[in-house]
Amino acid sequence: MAIIAKKCPQYQVKIVDINEARIAAWNSNNLPVYEPGLTEIVESVRGKNLFFGTDIDASINEADIIFVSVNTPTKTFGFGAGKASDLQYIEKTARNILAASDKGKIVVEKSTLPVRTAESMERILNNSGKGISFQIVSNPEFLAEGTAVTDLENPDRVLIGGHQSEEGRAAVEEIAKIYANWVPRERIITTNLWSSELSKLAANAFLAQRISSINSLSALCEKTGANVDEIANAIGKDSRIGSKFLKASIGFGGSCFKKDILNLVYLCEHYGLPEVATYWENVIKINEWQTTRSVKRVLRSMFNTIANKKIAVFGFAFKADTNDTRESPAHMVVRELLDEHAKPVITDYKALADAKRDLNDVIDNVQFSEDPYEAAKDAHAVLLCTEWKQYATLDWQRIYNSMSKPALIFDGRNILDGEQLKKIGFEFIGIGKA
Ligand code: UGA
Repeated sequence: MAIIAKKCPQYQVKIVDINEARIAAWNSNNLPVYEPGLTEIVESVRGKNLFFGTDIDASINEADIIFVSVNTPTKTFGFGAGKASDLQYIEKTARNILAASDKGKIVVEKSTLPVRTAESMERILNNSGKGISFQIVSNPEFLAEGTAVTDLENPDRVLIGGHQSEEGRAAVEEIAKIYANWVPRERIITTNLWSSELSKLAANAFLAQRISSINSLSALCEKTGANVDEIANAIGKDSRIGSKFLKASIGFGGSCFKKDILNLVYLCEHYGLPEVATYWENVIKINEWQTTRSVKRVLRSMFNTIANKKIAVFGFAFKADTNDTRESPAHMVVRELLDEHAKPVITDYKALADAKRDLNDVIDNVQFSEDPYEAAKDAHAVLLCTEWKQYATLDWQRIYNSMSKPALIFDGRNILDGEQLKKIGFEFIGIGKA
């Protein structure tokens, strides 16, 4: 919405939320998310044509277009628990929109949703007997955290799905017109509603599948003496495969990949396609296995016991350039270290507050430090879990001197120079390297 406000001064953009503290933070100098470039953009348009508030009903009534961006977490109860999306917030929002509206509007699904969710929204909005009509449009988001601003300013594509009726097409065009202020028309794709909803799940499933594919091969590399980075480079040069999203890692995290694939799996099961469901479910299984087997590798290298050993965890965010820790592999690593009675010390450039919240139930057994040098002092091992680029340029000699020996480094992101570290005296383990 901040980018829309910036690129389209002719539109008034109002963001509303039930969470007053969050809205207050968005109105302050300290935004509630860390995202490179975002603060400058928000500051340039806030109070001009971008507003944050909690007056939901009035804002609904005033709006011509509503982007619904409420959360759709994985259901934790009842049918489909652990896989299906919990759509209660979507439904509540649809009812809220209906109750607060005196005139019809375009309602845009921005949240990632299971296929055919628009149908449910439509039933609520258009079968009320209230005499006003709504158009539902799907406009899934493809930005990635950490690069959100550049992804939005220069998207590979914008996808807009709508009904194939005259009104449906007009509503799609209204939304396309917004993006056309800065996105070339040929990159604005329009489809039917269901293709748009499913494309979002499909895109994330394909991206995650690439990571699981390269990670599965990383295990074979470790056995055979091949190097997974060399393999990624060699296969990525094939233009049919492409070089992106082939970086072997300790596992993918984030609020989207796992949730969306589970949702896809649930849909396949629901529609009687168990083979397709199993196919995609394995992308997640490989991912979890990758994280767990990495911790086991570390354990084996440390004489099979890490009880009472201080272990520095470098990075807790699910990727660099964000403070987001949702489904972060580092979180799983820390839990496994605790299971082994190790003493983890976590350091991160942006995510320590979220780390403390996530580990609240075990907070007495975990330490936190803003300073990586401090975190590594007297540690038996450093486990690098997030690819913050600062880690590549740390004074590793200084870190080595301060650690217990033998000093181990596990590079869960393959961003360090292993040969150099070995020269310093470290025992070094990388992903997909013998
Ligand atoms: C992902 C998609 O990339 C976006 O297109 C999508 O819009 C978004 O989900 C969403 O559905 O909202 P995001 O989760 O923010 O974006 O970040 P990614 O860059 O996709 O990274 C996801 C995870 O995969 C991270 O833990 C990252 O470190 C890991 N990763 C990524 C790898 O391990 N290897 C790679 O080669 C790439």
